[in-house]
Amino acid sequence: MSSAKLTYNGKEYEYPVIVGTENEAGIDFTQLRAQTGAITFDPGYGNTGSCKSAVTFIDGDAGILRYRGYPIEQLASASRFSEVCYLLIYGKLPNATELNEWRRLLTQNSFIHESMINLFDHYPPTAHPMAILSAMVASLSTFHPDSNNEDQLDTTIVRLLAKAKTLAAFTYKKTRGEPIVYPIAANSYAANFLYMMFSTPAEPYVISPVIENALNMLLVLHADHEQNCSTSTVRMVGSSGANLYASISAGISGLWGPLHGGANQEVIEMLERIVADGCDYKKYITMAKDKNSNFRLMGFGHRVYKNFDPRAKLLKEACDQVLKEMGVKEPLLEVAKHLEEVALRDDFFIERRLYPNVDFYSGIIYRALGIPTNMFTVMFAIGRMPGWIAQWREMRAEFGNKIHRPRQIYIGEKERHYVPVEKRK
Ligand code: CMC
Repeated sequence: MSSAKLTYNGKEYEYPVIVGTENEAGIDFTQLRAQTGAITFDPGYGNTGSCKSAVTFIDGDAGILRYRGYPIEQLASASRFSEVCYLLIYGKLPNATELNEWRRLLTQNSFIHESMINLFDHYPPTAHPMAILSAMVASLSTFHPDSNNEDQLDTTIVRLLAKAKTLAAFTYKKTRGEPIVYPIAANSYAANFLYMMFSTPAEPYVISPVIENALNMLLVLHADHEQNCSTSTVRMVGSSGANLYASISAGISGLWGPLHGGANQEVIEMLERIVADGCDYKKYITMAKDKNSNFRLMGFGHRVYKNFDPRAKLLKEACDQVLKEMGVKEPLLEVAKHLEEVALRDDFFIERRLYPNVDFYSGIIYRALGIPTNMFTVMFAIGRMPGWIAQWREMRAEFGNKIHRPRQIYIGEKERHYVPVEKRK
């Protein structure tokens, strides 16, 4: 095993180097504070490995993404979301018997407690669906109080996965003031979601294979992405011993922000703004480069990918194919492609290695499927559910009862003494 040497306060220390299966190296500083009294300082955790994980591998320089060793390109073109859920959570592709049973469980557990449906009625019609989803996932723990029992874990996992799509579809129905629609057993995961979203009492939604496949692919592409903001949140909350529902509810809130999953909604709003502004691409590129403008090119850049995000590559191709198959003309696709072209020729983006990420093209497909813009991040959350669960499960197995608890460098006031209010200046 190799090691790294550190000289601090005139003394030399040696730390082991951990090497992963793909030769990624990390210096193991777990003994640093005990030996030196100092801590590592890495705001934003750009260089911090918070765990060992066997779930997902990313090589950001080469644009590689694999779930449990399987390349994302293969899974996106050939697998079903339900089997990817199984793969991520249990580490292997299910055989035919396992898959049938898994699918049966995912349908059987789709229903939510009838009392829970009342909860939806008390949100204002303007409520953002991510707020409702986060609250509803946390609320599941009140209907299933046994969720933190180790022997109930597999049941809790399947319940959460199965009910996530129902909660999302009911959120949509309730914000539209329409009656909810229950899932049907014969449907796939993606098809059931579409059915619950778009059926009305007057007309059941007829599922087209083109639309079902497009949604399946979107869910697969979002299924995991190792230690990002929301996943790290799920692990962090779970490390306190909080149940799976509570941990994932926190992850949903983490995902909501515009720098993370919320970017998919922002991309479409940005493209619409550019169109309304006469397609002045240069103006928006100039604004994105201006640090004082507070404007970023949404759907561009990534902490890990410094080459094309492979998911964006697949989605760009899928946009053309899905829109063609559906016979839909989407002017925003041309706007997005043109904006990408202008940005990729610009030195600012070239020097910083900023490329389109998963959120740049996904919204174009969601729109074509009829999903409203404020539901885009909810779609991301449903897709990410198996990844969060797999990472939470792995965290529990690896860390047991060790709580996640970073340290800090304090830069506030030194000790001072309390002054009663009447004596304060
Ligand atoms: N538009 C303009 N400038 C950018 C952008 C952008 N989208 N992204 C990064 N930069 C610049 C940034 O100003 C900085 O410049 P400088 O070095 O001169 O200060 C440099 O590039 C590095 O940026 P950073 O913010 O330090 O990079 P990060 O790794 O901390 O942030 C990011 C990654 C994704 C938050 C960021 O690229 C961003 O804000 N992108 C737009 C939001 C977005 O699309 N988010 C979705 C991410 S992918 C889905 C997911 O997994 O969440």
